[in-house]
Amino acid sequence: KRLAILASGSGSNAEKIMAHFRHSDKAEIALIASNKSDAYVLERAKKFDVPTFTFSKKEMDAGVLLEKLQEEKIDWVILAGFLLKIPVELTRAFPDRMLNIHPALLPKYGGKGMYGAHVHEAVKAAGEKETGITIHLVNENYDEGKIVFQASTAIDELDNPDSIAAKVHELEHKYFPQVIEELLLKQEDQ
Ligand code: GRF
Repeated sequence: KRLAILASGSGSNAEKIMAHFRHSDKAEIALIASNKSDAYVLERAKKFDVPTFTFSKKEMDAGVLLEKLQEEKIDWVILAGFLLKIPVELTRAFPDRMLNIHPALLPKYGGKGMYGAHVHEAVKAAGEKETGITIHLVNENYDEGKIVFQASTAIDELDNPDSIAAKVHELEHKYFPQVIEELLLKQEDQ
């Protein structure tokens, strides 16, 4: 299976996924694509010899990204810190084959604007006792795709958005690669 990872920022999740599949015979990270030509994720791709592709929102909306993914015969699209809304055509081209990771326990704290530190600020402000990660399939309504996996972590009094972010990142790095692998295996059985 050929996987493409879409990311807009640092790409720590992308790196964990590339490392996880580096010697795998089940899946290959065939492309790292970003809408930011200076995104650090592109540096991480170079370290793993994974081809990269950058595009603008305009190009994505015009179908350029979809063409590239089809050209590269991509089977799965993994969103790992990708901050643009995926065009409907793109979600339709990968039905049940596009995964996103959200740094909170959906359906709470999802939707517009709930990304990056904003999510952890909102969780802290609401006095939540726990938060976590949600890995879900991406459909046209974005954060409402089928939830595939969730893991939680406790929030205590002394936690602030930064320490919450660190706990959430730890869950992401621990679980995202293996959840992807298990999904690929399940799909193969079908
Ligand atoms: C992660 O917290 C992820 O949940 C969110 O964006 C962040 C990406 O972090 N969607 P990184 O770029 O993988 O370090």
